[in-house]
Amino acid sequence: METDLHRMPRRVKTVRMFRARFLLLFLLALPVATPVRAQTAPPEAAPPWANKTLVPELRARMVIARMTTEEKLRLVKSSAEMPPDESFGLAGFVQGIAHLGIPPLRESNAELGVAMPILPGQNGPKDEATALPSGLATAASWDPKIAYANGAMIGAEARAKGFNVMLAGAANLARDPRTGRNFEYFGEDPLLSGILAGESIRGIQDQHVISTLKHFALNDQETNRTLLDAKIDMAAFRESDLLAFQIALERGNPGSIMCSYNLINGVHACENPLLLDEILRKQWRYRGWVMSDWGALHSTKDAAMAGLDQESGAEWDSQPFFGEPLTAAIAAGIVPASRLDEMVFRVLSTMFAHGLVDDAPTPAPLDVEAGARVAQQAAEAGIVLLRNKGSILPLSRNVRRIAVIGAHADVGVMSGGGSSQVLPIGGAAAEITIVEHGVPIPFPLIFDPSSPLRAIAAKAPQAKVTYSDGKNLTEVAALAKSSDIAIVFATRWEAEGHDAENLSLPNGQDKLIATVAAANPRSIVVLETGNPVLMPWLSKTAAVIEAWYPGARGGEAIANVLFGDINPSGHLPMTFPASAQQLPRAEVPGRVIEWNTNFRVDYSEGSDVGYRWYHARNLTPLFPFGFGLSYTSFRYGGVHLRGGKTIAADFSVTNTGKRTGAEVAQIYALVPLPKGGERKRLIGWGKVELAPGETKQVSITADPRLLGHFDEAAQGWRIDKGTYRVEIGDSAQDVRFSGSVKVVAGSLAP
Ligand code: BGC
Repeated sequence: METDLHRMPRRVKTVRMFRARFLLLFLLALPVATPVRAQTAPPEAAPPWANKTLVPELRARMVIARMTTEEKLRLVKSSAEMPPDESFGLAGFVQGIAHLGIPPLRESNAELGVAMPILPGQNGPKDEATALPSGLATAASWDPKIAYANGAMIGAEARAKGFNVMLAGAANLARDPRTGRNFEYFGEDPLLSGILAGESIRGIQDQHVISTLKHFALNDQETNRTLLDAKIDMAAFRESDLLAFQIALERGNPGSIMCSYNLINGVHACENPLLLDEILRKQWRYRGWVMSDWGALHSTKDAAMAGLDQESGAEWDSQPFFGEPLTAAIAAGIVPASRLDEMVFRVLSTMFAHGLVDDAPTPAPLDVEAGARVAQQAAEAGIVLLRNKGSILPLSRNVRRIAVIGAHADVGVMSGGGSSQVLPIGGAAAEITIVEHGVPIPFPLIFDPSSPLRAIAAKAPQAKVTYSDGKNLTEVAALAKSSDIAIVFATRWEAEGHDAENLSLPNGQDKLIATVAAANPRSIVVLETGNPVLMPWLSKTAAVIEAWYPGARGGEAIANVLFGDINPSGHLPMTFPASAQQLPRAEVPGRVIEWNTNFRVDYSEGSDVGYRWYHARNLTPLFPFGFGLSYTSFRYGGVHLRGGKTIAADFSVTNTGKRTGAEVAQIYALVPLPKGGERKRLIGWGKVELAPGETKQVSITADPRLLGHFDEAAQGWRIDKGTYRVEIGDSAQDVRFSGSVKVVAGSLAP
């Protein structure tokens, strides 16, 4: 598979966009009731905007012309009045305008499947859905097709449940490996994150369900996220977090964007004119609507005038800011009535554009088997083989005695907590309330019911497979010693609203692994974590796989990798640090703050997030970004580089081993800095599946923005003339080929 990194040339795109806008302006200037193509007009009884051949913008204008002010205000604010029979899994609800044929917005969280708000000890009916692996697992596949398939599955299940807006597409960058929501996101690189978030949004929306892109922007830590004031140099912001959003937006065309809780350079994201108006609307020409995160709104006029179009989760805000206060602000002339019309126009035109009005979802049973297949494929594509001493893996099916130890591996696999939590089909295999500093975390820890123990036993039917919960280290050591292979599972739970205090496995699991490894040199560690972790026991183990949170069929996916039915091809979407001292901030800031007071986090690393930082500081991590082993081996050859306005690379990859396998061949540019030194940037990759002996060609043309600096004064991208080094390899640090090309000076629109 080759990633489609060839973006439409900007000039062609600009011309097309100009034409499209010209056409739009023309259409909008038409009298409201003029059908564009009279011959296809629907029957008399239907209102004129029911005519599907009209452009969404015109249909929206026709509806607006019939709406009362009260109806307009209804559409720009979530409603607390969720009909009880429809409130299953609803995270948000916006009333429709029934007599005009406009359906309500039924919103559910959905980064990792259609989520169900679950509170510890909550009784009553619960609504199950397919649990996908974590976003990091999908990112580790480096495969846009996996992200798209996940999205399409989410869209299909959403429709079956009667939802029409998915709060999905989380594209925040993993700036800190302790951030509690990294498991929902797509890693540390803007190109990888942007492409995969965009593809998952596209997958959802192709089912006529709107997806958001969130949390816009710089909500890169969870600790006191509503008080966090993220300070960043604007050019660096463009080259990192904003670039991820920009790419996701171009690729996925999300119907809505959710602005985040935090402040950016002193201004709340949801009332930030620079972010919402200048960058998003004027420069990126975004046409959907902006909704606030739940509790992220702090004003009426400032937010309305900055570009917020809809107040979501209004009951989470300190008071309602749209609704009554917006009515009053309009009556007093503080917010012009035309701004309300613009908000409504953005919501309605997007609903028409994405099929919400013409193709309303109808409740139906889920295709559980199809969902599970998608989840399993994603898990298998995302598992990363980190160590395989003496090729202990894949395991032979003739092994006689296998010990499976720890982490509830007898019943299931871990999932991450928070609003993205999916209640898995079949219910939780285990549900645990976590207490931190004496206070229960408001989300339970849920294990998806896919037992690695059962899946492993099924692979080696004649073996004696014994499970230990790992609590008694003496018994564990005895079991590991008497086994041919000891597989120890270790987990670290991450959840929304919480960042980890350190990078270690909790609850004595390092000691457990060290005990197993000391008792049996043929020890294999399976990690189910939502972030990188430290591995003090690494050199004592035979093999390590990172399975992330592997979802509905995680147990089967892990067993398939362990026994070689799947050749692992996942590559890390985040750097695994050797210690917390390597990070830009030794501790997560903002743990101790003055009550209800904003605190500032200075992102002085700027755009050097993740591997870019390690390169700039010449640090050697535990495992580099992009790293991942295989049961086969690959050779790179025939490299041909071209310079000019951007960098293009052609090369071949050959499978030199005995098994079919997939390689993720990565291309990095070392962009020279005007004052000396260079910046490392992933500029593309190709994922190629190869039979033994087979060779395939990889061709990449870099998006020139990845070579550029954002020029704040000129408000555009600037590409400097110079000689750029290019590295090709299978991680940010394993360079298989290095060369250089000449790049000419250039500039691009923002
Ligand atoms: C989260 C969003 C989520 C929303 C609705 C917020 O707390 O940050 O990601 O979509 O809640 O549940």
